[in-house]
Amino acid sequence: MNGLLQSILETGTYFVVSDFKGQRAITAKLQECVLNATTEIVGSAARADLERRGLQYLHAHLPPEAITQVRDQVMPIMRPDLFRFTCEVGEGLLGLDREFFVDDYTILRINYPYEVGLKASDKAENPGIGRTDPQTKKMANSTQKRDERYDPKSYHKHTPPASWAHGPHKDTWTGHSRHGINLWWAMNDVVEENSMIFYPATFGKAYQADPRSLYLAAGYRLPKPNKMALHAGELLIFNPELLHATHLNTSGLTRMALSSRINPTEPKFDPACFYAREFWHSSEDIKQGKMEVIRQFKREENFEDPSIHHAETPVACVDYTAIPTAAASDGWESLSLETLDLTLDRQLIELSSGKQVILFRDGESWAAVQSTCPHLDTDLMDGYCGAGKVYCPAHGVVYNLASGQSASPLLRLQTYDLQFEPTTLRLRARA
Ligand SMILES: [Fe+2]
Repeated sequence: MNGLLQSILETGTYFVVSDFKGQRAITAKLQECVLNATTEIVGSAARADLERRGLQYLHAHLPPEAITQVRDQVMPIMRPDLFRFTCEVGEGLLGLDREFFVDDYTILRINYPYEVGLKASDKAENPGIGRTDPQTKKMANSTQKRDERYDPKSYHKHTPPASWAHGPHKDTWTGHSRHGINLWWAMNDVVEENSMIFYPATFGKAYQADPRSLYLAAGYRLPKPNKMALHAGELLIFNPELLHATHLNTSGLTRMALSSRINPTEPKFDPACFYAREFWHSSEDIKQGKMEVIRQFKREENFEDPSIHHAETPVACVDYTAIPTAAASDGWESLSLETLDLTLDRQLIELSSGKQVILFRDGESWAAVQSTCPHLDTDLMDGYCGAGKVYCPAHGVVYNLASGQSASPLLRLQTYDLQFEPTTLRLRARA
């Protein structure tokens, strides 16, 4: 293990690689494959426009339902390149000099803008879900188990899967191996509003997942998200036990990325997760061109408790249950200042209607907005707040506290007028 690998595994270091062996050529090849597949499906006029404006306008030509077809055409061509390159990263960058493993589960992530995904049919695929080789798919299906509480459709408010984005998580929560290293490769320019989100300050801390979504449970206050804008072809290398998420794509642009994973040793799984990514390729096989050889590491035979290597620091949840309640009068809602702690940067208030509002203090200025993100009703009490903005703790959407606006016209917070009187605070919903 070299120093770089050690710091990724032990301290959650992450970094961007822009010109490693063949990286640029593989990026260009994938872009060309996507253009070829798109041309076959929707014709050459689309290709001409995409060559002129870039693949970030793919959604203007290719319906979300056709992404599966593109992926099925592109990935059999690209997987050998991806596996070979992943192997070279393991050896050349991370200093792995013995047999290691590359996950068979790869993802071509084509994330359409949120508003486009919302209009897709339920058949259009979730861009965050990968595919194993067709050979292993049957085997994988036969080993999948379900937890009754897991219900991603309800978490996503029954919106089309094409509009979904990952909430904050560690990959072991979703069946991935422990001690993995993720490669996340931008295939076109990535902007903050469609990026990966990292929470570096959370590394090494123990958080609970919500069994309904397998994302971070409510009640953990998150620091400011680090949104990873990248240029086309740049590769992020990171430890997937660093809390990470996908920004809801409010950029208006298609975002395309390719991902793979290395395990320096035989994959081990967290017994707390009800399924596991069991299918891998040995670096030795990949180097010999034997891309079809699969090594299965059965879940039940390869458990490893997370506490064996790192004693993670427990993190306390914030309790928001003691909520001051306002009373309605003359079209305003008022509550006694005695019920509030004006030194806090945020407080939850319940209106007479039962609606909840957050009173934010940013230095000397105050703002009140609805308490949940209109995207998936995530509690904004858990989000970072600063410089007149609150960040949704689920998918990074930024709201201006004064106007309630975000980058998406579909997502806006209700804001409230505030009046501080000597003993009373009054609030009124803005039109
Ligand atoms: Fe992940």
